[in-house]
Amino acid sequence: MRSHYCGRVGEELVDEQISVCGWAHRRRDHGGVIFVDLRDRSGLLQVVADPDEAEAFANADKVRGEYVLRVTGRVRRRPPGTENPELSTGKVEIYAQEFEILNRALPLPFQLDDIDVNEAVRLKYRYLDLRRPEMQHRFHLRHRVVRSLRVFLEENEFIEIETPVLTRSTPEGARDYLVPSRTQAGHFFALPQSPQLFKQILMVAGFERYYQIARCFRDEDLRADRQPEFTQLDVETAFLDESQITALMEAMIRRVFRDVLQQELPEPFPRLNYADVVQRYGTDRPDLRNPLELVELGDLMREVEFKVFAAPAQAGGRVAALRVPGGGRLTRQQIDHYTAYVKQFGAKGLAYIKVNDPGGGREGLQSPILKFLPDGVIADVLSRTAAEKDDLIFFGADRSNVVNESLSALRDRLGADLAILEPGWRPLWVVDFPMFERDADSGRWQSLHHPFTGVQPEHVDLLESNPGTALSRAYDMVLNGAEIGGGSIRIHQEAVQERVFQILGIEADEARRKFGFLLDALQYGAPPHGGIAFGLDRLVAMMAASDSIRDVIAFPKTQKATCLMTEAPAVVGAEQLRELHIRLRKSKTPAE
Ligand code: AMO
Ligand code: AMP
Repeated sequence: MRSHYCGRVGEELVDEQISVCGWAHRRRDHGGVIFVDLRDRSGLLQVVADPDEAEAFANADKVRGEYVLRVTGRVRRRPPGTENPELSTGKVEIYAQEFEILNRALPLPFQLDDIDVNEAVRLKYRYLDLRRPEMQHRFHLRHRVVRSLRVFLEENEFIEIETPVLTRSTPEGARDYLVPSRTQAGHFFALPQSPQLFKQILMVAGFERYYQIARCFRDEDLRADRQPEFTQLDVETAFLDESQITALMEAMIRRVFRDVLQQELPEPFPRLNYADVVQRYGTDRPDLRNPLELVELGDLMREVEFKVFAAPAQAGGRVAALRVPGGGRLTRQQIDHYTAYVKQFGAKGLAYIKVNDPGGGREGLQSPILKFLPDGVIADVLSRTAAEKDDLIFFGADRSNVVNESLSALRDRLGADLAILEPGWRPLWVVDFPMFERDADSGRWQSLHHPFTGVQPEHVDLLESNPGTALSRAYDMVLNGAEIGGGSIRIHQEAVQERVFQILGIEADEARRKFGFLLDALQYGAPPHGGIAFGLDRLVAMMAASDSIRDVIAFPKTQKATCLMTEAPAVVGAEQLRELHIRLRKSKTPAE
């Protein structure tokens, strides 16, 4: 139907007869001449319909927004002064001789170039939303990212293998989505939270280098960077150690940024250990563009009169400071604002000291807590935080995780508000994670990653004697404050796997029931193996400079895990439920 794409028509085609197809992006009536900006996937081209071409003009007159058109005519140079430097085709236009309306469109629920449309409306009419050039751009970018990943993996002899979607529960820590079995009454498949167990079994099966662009399903609380259904680039290898795998994956990510964005990432990525990053940033996924760091004060505060600081310092909690250079100019109102903000993360308050004159003793400082702190402690706080004139020091004191969560959130917030983020990309690896952490409610050990994560060889003996101190062979890739990938060297010996299950409180019979196939496989010549999975949506969202992964998923779910376009999930009929051996509780019975 077309001879050329709209966005690729340039001066070299002047005087040629061409045909173009697309959507009426904008229509303007200029005293007898009608202009239509015709849009296809490549861009916009201005169409001119002149009354001299009576039939074409009559059709152009009927055009409304998003009508589908086919136009044939001559390319001509735009008259001087009417060129549009914003458009790649801005020097030319097409003079319509034939102007066909291929289809009409209802009046739109929103204008495509309106940037302030409610997201619910965008999701309901996703096909219109996706027509917007910026959305088209994001999906072309996503495609280029995936292509670049595949090329790299192909060059490194990885092969792509698909694993099942109807499977058993895989423990990645979220709730499962279940699918009832019709043929086995009362039995359910679980959708995979990741292909973790299958990829390990593919290593036992001898493939050595596997990858998959895999859909994963997790029923968890949703945020801007979490979807119930998301995509991983999943990778597994045999006979490589952590330094080899991370080097390879780092090269891959570097390559993707070069191919797709023509940007270079630092080489090599810094490797920071978990204990250090939590101490310095309060989180295991720090944004290294942000120069602010937490400073430990617990040892200074044990004996002070101020119970807010002394109590956690004595009880194994955390007291830490965050110095904000130039923060002295923050107003009382702004400080109240930040105080309310950290309370969302469980903090009970946000003490602060304004440093008007660091050498001026108490008189040089301004703070509601000065009266509770002795001179020596104040001097130590100033020197430890390296406070300078006009700085502000914030304090967090509580259980360690409350201080870490609230001060790391505050650090991010200040980084954005004060515009102190360095430009560019700051990737890092976080390594030396603990194997286990204690669940706050049950007090039981749980895996920091997942139960198949290997333990560092010199820590195997700590598994039973002191599980909290055993470090794992896991590694996470973090980029500008987001965890874009995580993986590990796995346990490849059945006996070690059983010991880890024991510590996690998974009894032998339960382990056999849930993971018997893995425990069996490990006993038939399982090679040492390890891998990683990247959150593809997160990676693409970052590269596309989108705030939400929903912007790079064609048909995403809402925060309530529903699809507004298809209206899924939906009620199903009684007959279908009966076949699945399911009876709903009364209040939930479907309408029919
Ligand atoms: P993990 O659970 O860390 O590891 O997941 C890997 C990466 O997937 C992304 N991710 C998500 N993205 C969008 N929405 C979600 N709900 C979501 N959850 C996770 C993150 C994360 O870094 N089997 C292991 C990998 C391995 O050990 O090889 C796993 O799934 O970017
Ligand atoms: P209060 O004695 O409760 O009035 O608190 C004095 C100052 O300490 C106020 O600025 C509070 O915001 C702050 N504050 C209270 N609890 C904490 C806490 N757990 N961590 C940090 N600052 C706190």
